[in-house]
Amino acid sequence: MSAPLLRLEGVTKVYRLGEVEVPALRGVDLLLERGDFIAIMGPSGSGKSTLLHIAGLLDRPTSGRVLWDGEDVTSFRPARLAELRGRRIGFVFQTFNLMPTLTALENVELPLVFQGVRPRDRRQRAEELLSLLGLGDRMRHRPSQLSGGERQRVAIARALASDPDLILADEPTGNLDTASGQEILGTLAQLNEQGRTVVLVTHDPEAAATARAVLRMRDGRIEGGEG
Ligand SMILES: Nc1ncnc2c1ncn2[C@@H]1O[C@H](COP(=O)(O)OP(=O)(O)OP(=O)(O)O)[C@@H](O)[C@H]1O
Ligand SMILES: [Mg+2]
Repeated sequence: MSAPLLRLEGVTKVYRLGEVEVPALRGVDLLLERGDFIAIMGPSGSGKSTLLHIAGLLDRPTSGRVLWDGEDVTSFRPARLAELRGRRIGFVFQTFNLMPTLTALENVELPLVFQGVRPRDRRQRAEELLSLLGLGDRMRHRPSQLSGGERQRVAIARALASDPDLILADEPTGNLDTASGQEILGTLAQLNEQGRTVVLVTHDPEAAATARAVLRMRDGRIEGGEG
């Protein structure tokens, strides 16, 4: 029996804004097994993005524990967290977050630059991923020269560059028309079928239906599962 990929135990998050404390998570337990595909729904401000940031090691909980492969990473130093994150987690955001001055190819290569992958190898990897995502003829385009759906596919290719175990997608279809959104959801489903673990935050019940289970959040808590 191997430990679950990711486990959150009693995670809370309080943001401090001067004198004001904003409780964003009020005690969240979450278990992600390898190969899971879960959607997280819930009203604006319920803590979905905060949860994703903590699960993805972009932020630390105020209290509670985050376990990767059974190992408590809550108190890892920043450099170690960044290394773990870079190697094992791919992020996809609503606003794509691509570098505007870089081509599609360079955007996908970027995480591999940080990981010290040799230029020839990282170029090859980026070309493969972009081709796989149907962007073989868009590699030299900059984000401004691409459609929203194409930009998001570049972002997915970038998320896949380091061959991560876990894809965390925060409203990846939020800025896309229905058809492009469907394509992105199809891509996430495909990645899951290939064995990757996927967490999808969405407001759209149809998008959530792509996942194999749906969690609902309210006021910083998970309300319970369905499907
Ligand atoms: N950096 C921050 N500093 C202070 N408060 C924050 C910060 N980020 C989020 N919050 C607050 O924490 C709560 C949860 O925010 P979060 O972004 O996780 O919600 P969400 O469920 O992702 O909402 P949405 O659906 O609008 O994206 C909100 O009350 C928000 O105002
Ligand atoms: Mg959010």
